[in-house]
Amino acid sequence: MTQSGSPTGSGAEFVREMARNFWYSAILRAAIKLDVFALLEGHPLTSQEVADSIGASPRYTQAFLDCCVVLDLLIFSDEKFTNSPTASDFLVKGKDSYVGDHAVHHTNTWASWGRLDEVIKEGKTLLPFETGFVDEATYWNDYMIGQHNRATSGQAVQLVQSVDLGGKRNLIDLGGGAASYSIALCQANPQLKAVVVDQKEPLIVAKTFVEQNNLTDRISLVEGSFFEAYIGAGYDVCLISGVVLISPDEDCRKLFKVAFDILEAGGLVIVQDYMRLDDNPQRKRLDTLEDLYVLVVFNPGAGDREGAEVTSWLEEAGFINPKSVPLPTQLGLITAEKPAN
Ligand SMILES: C[S@@+](CC[C@H](N)C(=O)[O-])C[C@H]1O[C@@H](n2cnc3c(N)ncnc32)[C@H](O)[C@@H]1O
Repeated sequence: MTQSGSPTGSGAEFVREMARNFWYSAILRAAIKLDVFALLEGHPLTSQEVADSIGASPRYTQAFLDCCVVLDLLIFSDEKFTNSPTASDFLVKGKDSYVGDHAVHHTNTWASWGRLDEVIKEGKTLLPFETGFVDEATYWNDYMIGQHNRATSGQAVQLVQSVDLGGKRNLIDLGGGAASYSIALCQANPQLKAVVVDQKEPLIVAKTFVEQNNLTDRISLVEGSFFEAYIGAGYDVCLISGVVLISPDEDCRKLFKVAFDILEAGGLVIVQDYMRLDDNPQRKRLDTLEDLYVLVVFNPGAGDREGAEVTSWLEEAGFINPKSVPLPTQLGLITAEKPAN
């Protein structure tokens, strides 16, 4: 594979290599699910020792570990396997840079992608639990801790550094998921309190993270749809993170109106999402793939939008002074204000 993620080789080998790409994804998924990286962190083991430890077939374990080596996930030296620098940095649970849960969430969509031809023809979405590849509870748990990985591995720091909430007191986080960004913003702004609105399953995960971070007195969780639940008013900042990408246009526009109505005059809205905010080839590749991904596994009305379109919806809702903030991480920002009285 090249750095940009394109298959190497040319001609027929380009095609064969592209066809084999899902094997790599499967090997990564299995290594995470079998906890191989935690086992081998700073602790080299032989193939037999790994097989014994994970309770697996020695022959299959040997072949599997050899593949992890050719894929640069592991290193083999003196008859023992250990983590590669990349695996050590990003695939060992407990490190801030860990993104293994996010990788599992992505690969939970496997069977939906496997039926891509049917999905394209019928213009329909196939949620991972609708294919039987994972059950619904597992899907939601992996989805939410995967989103949390994204936050803790860099997105939350970028958000905190990009918005000045020094004078703000009451944040509402619409579709707040695992409460990842409410936690980061409250930690960075000691005067801030937050209300996280989401459905039942994400809030199960959010409750755990809020408790682990000792923020139960400052972050409250409201269960239900942000279109239907009682969410109050008088907030001075509203975060909408990861919701625009997966929602139909009409829901995004309706949501921005909700945000406008519940903010006090002079309040700040922050939209954080996959959006096309700047123009570079690497970014274009990611946004192009995300655009199809959300159609396949989220909603037939979803899409990776142009920043200008999202800004126009904010202005339509009544917001002013829109600012586009591309970030080096996956999600960029658009901020805007409700006019002061
Ligand atoms: C991609 S996740 C983002 C979670 C979190 N904001 C983050 O950025 O990590 C999208 C979230 O929006 C929530 N969501 C979508 N539609 C919703 C609705 N109508 N009411 C409440 N939450 C909703 C989903 O349940 C999910 O938790």
